[in-house]
Amino acid sequence: MQPDRIREKLGRSLFAGRILFRRSLDSTNALAGDLAAGGAPEGACVLAEEQTGGRGRRGRIWLSPAYANLYISLLLRPALEADRAFVLTMLLALAAREGVEQATGVRAGIKWPNDLYVEGKKLAGILTELTAKGKDVEYVILGLGLNVNWAPGRMGDLDRPATSILAETGVPADRGDLLVRILTLFEDSYLRLKAGEVDPFYRQWNEHCLVLGREVEIESQGEKICGTALRIDRDGALILRDPQGGEQRILHGDVSLRYEGTGGKGTAS
Ligand code: BTN
Repeated sequence: MQPDRIREKLGRSLFAGRILFRRSLDSTNALAGDLAAGGAPEGACVLAEEQTGGRGRRGRIWLSPAYANLYISLLLRPALEADRAFVLTMLLALAAREGVEQATGVRAGIKWPNDLYVEGKKLAGILTELTAKGKDVEYVILGLGLNVNWAPGRMGDLDRPATSILAETGVPADRGDLLVRILTLFEDSYLRLKAGEVDPFYRQWNEHCLVLGREVEIESQGEKICGTALRIDRDGALILRDPQGGEQRILHGDVSLRYEGTGGKGTAS
């Protein structure tokens, strides 16, 4: 990747002047978190060619081979209550989904709470790490890992089905171009959010959400809950109809889709 070209293409963007590029790093989220704790202003964007300790959700590892994919972390300081911070994850997932489609034609869906999937295989994940002051957000680190030019054969090392842009299209994608599109789309939404616009994002989110209307099994805080996914509410919670006909509201968890006819779990966990 060429950080100078990326800065130039970003023009007057919030992120353009604050890109920190490293060839190798343990985790872009960790460095962005250190910068935030040291008082760095919002808009810092940490970018690495390789991560040696890439972090996933729920303590998982995010495999991050060199020169293949996108590993980025954004530092934001929104005036937002911590309970509402999910909307930021949502904006990044929507921007990544749209950026990927614009740049490569690959159409991904969003799997609650924060993954991009193509036909049951994971294309991207987001790790949101939040620090609060009282009930308000002090800062948020939004980390995105997007599988771009990871050779299909290499992904066999993963414990869950995964894919990449290269695996989907058969041609390598320009990671700089993808990054610029995603950051531009994200910034546009972020500015609209700051100006008080929220509803269109929830509509888009529900529209692209893969789990709605499906039978799902959710692992949440050590418990397994089954039911039909109805909608995502304004706090980012998944609303589920349980087998007794009641509604359950789930704030955190990992979803598995249950495919009709197989009676078993699908591959999209
Ligand atoms: C997940 O699906 O579990 C979330 C994965 C998030 C990975 C990204 S890669 C860039 C940033 N730095 C990290 O250490 N993690 C996130």
